[in-house]
Amino acid sequence: MNDPQAAQRLCAPAAERNAAPILEVLRGALPAQGTVLEIASGTGQHAVHFASALPGLTWQPSDADARARASIAAWRAHTGLANLLEPLDLDVCREPWPIEAVDAIVCINMIHIAPWEAARALMKGAGVRIAEGGALVLYGPYRRGGAHTAPSNEAFDADLRARDPSWGVRDMEDVEALAQAQGFACEARVAMPANNFCLVFRKR
Ligand SMILES: C[S@@+](CC[C@H](N)C(=O)[O-])C[C@H]1O[C@@H](n2cnc3c(N)ncnc32)[C@H](O)[C@@H]1O
Repeated sequence: MNDPQAAQRLCAPAAERNAAPILEVLRGALPAQGTVLEIASGTGQHAVHFASALPGLTWQPSDADARARASIAAWRAHTGLANLLEPLDLDVCREPWPIEAVDAIVCINMIHIAPWEAARALMKGAGVRIAEGGALVLYGPYRRGGAHTAPSNEAFDADLRARDPSWGVRDMEDVEALAQAQGFACEARVAMPANNFCLVFRKR
């Protein structure tokens, strides 16, 4: 059957692979009910996966990129999930964000593919929008103690920096320091497949 939106529904193989393990972390970190803001939703595959698996939550996807937002909207239309909202045009570096208070924020694979300023802006924006007890969950590759955790991450980091010198795999300690400065405590550092980590922060 002809599906005019099929071409807009982008697919990232990595998002297909990591959705299930990330969901397991989210099940332990997110509330049973409430609104979760996903920053940098990308294709929208994660938003569909998480909204479908966590029906008590209202999932608010967002991205700074118009093509990503079109893909998220196309996935939303395709799946018809009642708890998945239209994507917001949200660039973490551009205040004011188009959303005020939320119960939790999830950000997957953004802070290494953006200038360090984006990590700062993410933490600042999260700090004023999440109330005490709310979660901020980050996923991605990190260096620990100034060293890469795997040769593949080191190669990935070199590739990122060649593409844009302001990008790069971040130091977990630096990310945690940013979060702490905005009132978050680091609740868990969960080792994930393919040498990634989930960082779960809780607002104090
Ligand atoms: C590698 S993709 C990750 C997408 C998705 N979270 C995933 O894991 O499949 C990085 C995403 O970050 C978004 N992004 C980059 N800089 C951003 C910013 N300043 N604010 C919001 N989103 C941003 C990009 O548009 C892109 O969709």
